Amino acid sequence: MTTTPTAELDRLLVAAKTAGVQREQIARFVRAGYVAQPKQLEFHAACRLADWPGGPVLIGYGGARGPGKSHASIVQAAVDDCQRVPGLKVLFLRKVGKAARESFNDLRQRTLRYLLHAYNAGSGALSFPNGSLIVIGNFYTEKDIDKYLGIEYDLIIIEEATQLSEEKFKMLRGSLRTSKTNWRPRMYLTTNPGGIGHQWFKRMFVLPWRSGRQTQTRFIQGTYRDNRFLNQEYREYLEGLTGVLGRMWRDGDWDIGAGTFFVNWDYDRHVTAPFRVPDHWPVWASLDYGFGHPTAVYLHTRNDGTIWTIAEHVQARWLAPQHAAAIHEMARRCDRRVEDFESFVAGHDVFAERGNSDGMTIAEQYAVEGIKLTPANIGRITGAAEMLRRMGDPAAGIAPTWRIFDTCVQLIECLPNLQTDPNRPEDVLKTDANEEGIGGDDPYDSARYGLMEARPPFAGMFVVRR
Ligand SMILES: Nc1ncnc2c1ncn2[C@@H]1O[C@H](COP(=O)(O)OP(=O)(O)O)[C@@H](O)[C@H]1O
Ligand SMILES: [Mg+2]
Repeated sequence: MTTTPTAELDRLLVAAKTAGVQREQIARFVRAGYVAQPKQLEFHAACRLADWPGGPVLIGYGGARGPGKSHASIVQAAVDDCQRVPGLKVLFLRKVGKAARESFNDLRQRTLRYLLHAYNAGSGALSFPNGSLIVIGNFYTEKDIDKYLGIEYDLIIIEEATQLSEEKFKMLRGSLRTSKTNWRPRMYLTTNPGGIGHQWFKRMFVLPWRSGRQTQTRFIQGTYRDNRFLNQEYREYLEGLTGVLGRMWRDGDWDIGAGTFFVNWDYDRHVTAPFRVPDHWPVWASLDYGFGHPTAVYLHTRNDGTIWTIAEHVQARWLAPQHAAAIHEMARRCDRRVEDFESFVAGHDVFAERGNSDGMTIAEQYAVEGIKLTPANIGRITGAAEMLRRMGDPAAGIAPTWRIFDTCVQLIECLPNLQTDPNRPEDVLKTDANEEGIGGDDPYDSARYGLMEARPPFAGMFVVRR
């Protein structure tokens, strides 16, 4: 069946009307060449409800990957809000991946082609002839957001909102204020399930939506099935996802697991700037082996009952000699030699798996490179409990006895995302990395081996509570 542009436009107008999108709002979209899809129309209608006294001020758009959340939220801000209210000041916070800080330019070119604007990639400022301004802020960890706090915005958009703690979200909300009489300050939040913010987001947006009792909030649930513009490869990628990642990213399932495992994780308390490790402090290492999945290596040190994880190497598809070179280099950066390490523990597969044509085990291949691996304590539940214990408990005034240098970026990204295994509530749910290497638990496994290695005698006598 072929459709004419007029038929397409007719359909759009009917759908827009049904969704409650304002006439003049849809006219702006049409002029900007944007054909909103049904869920996007619902989102746009909800955003305009915020204009009315008593209307919602927090609009959540979520569920899963790919419904067109980013596309719709930038269009709502740039094409609609910024055009109808001169001098509007908007903060658009984007979560960027660790690999490439993917540019805002791609999104801008897809969405704002027919809208007059100026973009300064250096400062991240997107400005319009009527004085409206969108500040594009990137965050990698939630700490990056601090630089945007304390400045006032009329509208704040947070992408991947469940990557933020409730505390950070509240701080951002504190930056929401207006001096305009023709504008009610508001937030648009887009996200998938999972992450440290999963619980508060679910409580604040998803539960009221489910029970039909939304007051301050509106929530629009969408998945990739609601987006006909999604490319085939991405569709297939999502359809092929298994386990918890599939439930989060493909299905938009808000009921995964019993939630976050490390409920006591706190970036500000657990992550520290690197310092030079004194010569008399012991250093040891841990390794979790993978080839398709990354191999993850950490160096640790301890003093006076506290452990610091001080260096990280995470890499997929490398062979033992390449990893070994990287490990020797890590040791050098800490003014140590691998031979001086107190120990170098690894998951048991390295002693079993024969990885090269000579029939050598992985451990034997590392031995050739001057790295002697010994079996780690791999008990999952005891290891998870030990990590929980070492993270401390701020509510009970118990300080952490484990800290991580901020250079260990993959570990820092991994820990707050780990979920509880619904079938074994004492354990962390196993997750595999996707092909971009995101979402896996390999850094966690390796760090866990490292912590277990430093476990003081009799530590097992303490009762660990969550
Ligand atoms: N209404 C639309 N018109 C054209 N392309 C769209 C539309 N909505 C989404 N897309 C495209 O679909 C893809 C996924 O959308 P995106 O906003 O990145 O999804 P999400 O942020 O929900 O993961 C992008 O390439 C985006 O440009
Ligand atoms: Mg997006």
